[in-house]
Amino acid sequence: MSIFQRCTYSFGENRAKNVLAAGPFGYVCGAAGAGDTHRGNIEAFQHYRIRPRVCCDITKRDLSVSIFGTRFPVPFLLAPIGVNTILHPDGELGPARAAAKLGVPYILSNVSSVPMEKVAEAMGDGIRWFQLYPPKDQELTKSFLKRAEDSGFKAIVVTVDSTILGWRETDLQNAYLPFLTGQGMGIYFTDPVFCSKLREAPHNNVKEAALKALEEGNNTCFTWKELAFIREQTRLPLLIKGTTHPDDALLAMEHGVDGIIVSNHGGRQLDGAVATLEALPAIVESIQGKIPIIMDGGIRRGADILKAIALGAAAVLIGRPYAYALAVAGKSEVEEVIKHLIAETELQLAISGRSSKNDVNPSLLMKVK
Ligand code: FNR
Repeated sequence: MSIFQRCTYSFGENRAKNVLAAGPFGYVCGAAGAGDTHRGNIEAFQHYRIRPRVCCDITKRDLSVSIFGTRFPVPFLLAPIGVNTILHPDGELGPARAAAKLGVPYILSNVSSVPMEKVAEAMGDGIRWFQLYPPKDQELTKSFLKRAEDSGFKAIVVTVDSTILGWRETDLQNAYLPFLTGQGMGIYFTDPVFCSKLREAPHNNVKEAALKALEEGNNTCFTWKELAFIREQTRLPLLIKGTTHPDDALLAMEHGVDGIIVSNHGGRQLDGAVATLEALPAIVESIQGKIPIIMDGGIRRGADILKAIALGAAAVLIGRPYAYALAVAGKSEVEEVIKHLIAETELQLAISGRSSKNDVNPSLLMKVK
């Protein structure tokens, strides 16, 4: 199966390929190693088929979900995707504005090209969460968290699967590392704690400052102890993103997290890792409904969203589809993708004989492979 034929709305990958240079396109589309996990994430949805019920009243439909006391109109959020200026000059302001306009929550990446305060301003009352790549320096961690709280971000997502970068062959072949030109450094380069570590202002020596930031993020000694430290620093709901193992999900809960994002970084970190949809049921089983479980990886269609929810996800994250849209035409195209996904998911729900998320459970599905 070609992954190029599943993306929401007009085959997003192909359209993005037409407008992007090889470096940026490879960065977004590419994955770790042979791409087995990236493909596996997408293919896993084919192992389940929807078993519709008929003769049900589907006149009224409700896709809304409530997480941490906030109601969202649809069961998806935009995933944290960094370095958006390689895709479009508006960078993260594009998806942030599109999400805010349509009431969909946006998770801002720690390696955003745009400072978080600007994104917050552009989103107004739009629901936003902040994703943290935990830096080595705890003072810097505190500074990022404080800025996020001051800027109205409503939850903190700690990504734990990327304390060292995966083997991304396309980027190696293209010799492409956008951070070195300052892209993706919008939050670091505006941080007083980070800047105090530099010999000169970041814009005077972009490469040196970017290397310093990458060194901070290359946090190979990050353990549950450091997660506990982060827990102590914020009263906001805390999630970890990047586990596919039920034991780690339980450990995370023991360390006080409020939610789990089952993710393998879109197959960009550990090639050969289990697909997220395959990993989801065991994590749902281990958590026993105590905290919400969100999943991402391979969500391209309304059917995929329904399948993930049927297997126990409270919501999913949309990743590459909106990044491709951003590359094609900025905010307006991201809006199109979100609207199409909402419409498709709602129709899928109705035609499967269900009228709300509460009716979506394992009985919706049949395992076929
Ligand atoms: C990502 N992802 C990611 N995750 C994260 O926690 N922080 C980040 O900055 C990024 N950056 C990023 C850049 C690009 C180009 C991609 C494609 C992905 C991972 C992202 O949040 C999500 O887990 C995956 O995109 C889900 O896989 P699919 O559905 O996009 O294939």
